[in-house]
Amino acid sequence: MKITIIGTGYVGLVSGTCFAELGFDVTCVDKDENKIQKLKKSTLPFFEPNLSELLDKNVREGRLHFTSLLKNTAETSKIIIIAVGTPCDFETGRTSLKDIYSVLDSLAPYLRNNKLLVLKSTVPIGTLKKIEQYIYMLNKQAKFELASNPEFLREGNAIQDFMKLDRIVVGTESLKAKSLLRILYHNFLLEGIPYIETTPETAELIKYASNAFLGLKVSYINQMADLCEKSNGNIRELAQALGLDHRIGRGFLDPGPGFGGSCLPKDLLELSIYAKEVEKPLTLIDEVLKFNNLRPQKMLKIIQTAFEGNLKGKTIAILGLTFKANTDDLRDSPSLNIINKLYNLGATLQVYDPKGMESAQKILPGLYFAKNPYEAMKNADGLVILTEWEEFKDLDLERVKQFLKTPLVIDLRNIFSLDQMKSKEFTYYSLGHRPLNEKTKPKRQAAA
Ligand code: UGA
Repeated sequence: MKITIIGTGYVGLVSGTCFAELGFDVTCVDKDENKIQKLKKSTLPFFEPNLSELLDKNVREGRLHFTSLLKNTAETSKIIIIAVGTPCDFETGRTSLKDIYSVLDSLAPYLRNNKLLVLKSTVPIGTLKKIEQYIYMLNKQAKFELASNPEFLREGNAIQDFMKLDRIVVGTESLKAKSLLRILYHNFLLEGIPYIETTPETAELIKYASNAFLGLKVSYINQMADLCEKSNGNIRELAQALGLDHRIGRGFLDPGPGFGGSCLPKDLLELSIYAKEVEKPLTLIDEVLKFNNLRPQKMLKIIQTAFEGNLKGKTIAILGLTFKANTDDLRDSPSLNIINKLYNLGATLQVYDPKGMESAQKILPGLYFAKNPYEAMKNADGLVILTEWEEFKDLDLERVKQFLKTPLVIDLRNIFSLDQMKSKEFTYYSLGHRPLNEKTKPKRQAAA
């Protein structure tokens, strides 16, 4: 069966490649001709582990194609999937549907013969119904089926999340759409993956409710970490114990500098505004948003405390720019927020990230971009860890000590164990635990 996927961002490109791997004949469409030319030469527009190899394989085997021309592929495909971006409109805080409507403008003439149009982009509640009306307005003769099919993949783990998914959610009132989607997801149905067929509105709500719950869980563990710091508690052991309760689960219980990225912050905000609009405010989610927005400021306070209130003239090594590990995505990254705050307080910053350097250099002037983590630490007064890359977890702590001027580590992702840091005699600040060896720090100058 032929499938067209419109949009070659994370969702579009990963879904397209994975559907091709499952045996479908997939054409990925993007209006950006430059991007398409690069994809034809196997150059990906972003970093995603294992995607390049899988994409190459499916192109070689003739199941995956790229084009900027919608017409041919839309006319010959039975299923057309929209996976374009729906970013935040910063003026209103709402999700922008500009790209979706622009796709529909081009697509409407080809919606004939009961083709199935599937919406994978994350869209506000009620969008599917609005889209249906919009298409009929553009093309009165249109004959198509429509379904919402939200995606739950994470950046950095996208292939695994797509191929080994927890559930499939399909929102439609059309029987034909239901049966075509059952063909599309045939392999997963055979494997017994839970398959939820529901109304379009419920499918749209499920996507938001999932991301909101993840944001809530991260904020919950972040608040627990704050409480541990005041109570002589240990967040690592607390999270482990919580996670062992199968009703709670261990996922998303790692404290950090707050959730970022292109999805959670935007989706929680959209959900919160929508809920107020329909007069059912989600006060819990409102609190999560407030708390998460203040998280970088709280991280700054920890860093300031570690430097005894004086950041001016201090040289600080920063490891981690992206919003989490295994991605080159800087969108809404708490690291950038914290870096800007440190810079404005007069610190000299030597930064390193395994994948985020190129984009960061364009938006963060005035920093030193090091070639490797150790170079970032050279003669620094302390080290701040902002992203949980494996490369950082594997650092040789003896070398870290040699490179730093002062053995001070502020680990805002808890990548090191307390025992490890104690035995190496670092002054070690982490989340959800009192600092280690605070007293062994050399005396510092008074605040300027
Ligand atoms: C998120 C969801 O996890 C996906 O299921 C969803 O499909 C996707 O949004 C989307 O809507 O497209 P993603 O944005 O890739 O995926 O990021 P997450 O892995 O969810 O992480 C979000 C943030 O929470 C990151 O800043 C991460 O560092 C933080 N986080 C996560 C923590 O601070 N602690 C944790 O324990 C887990």
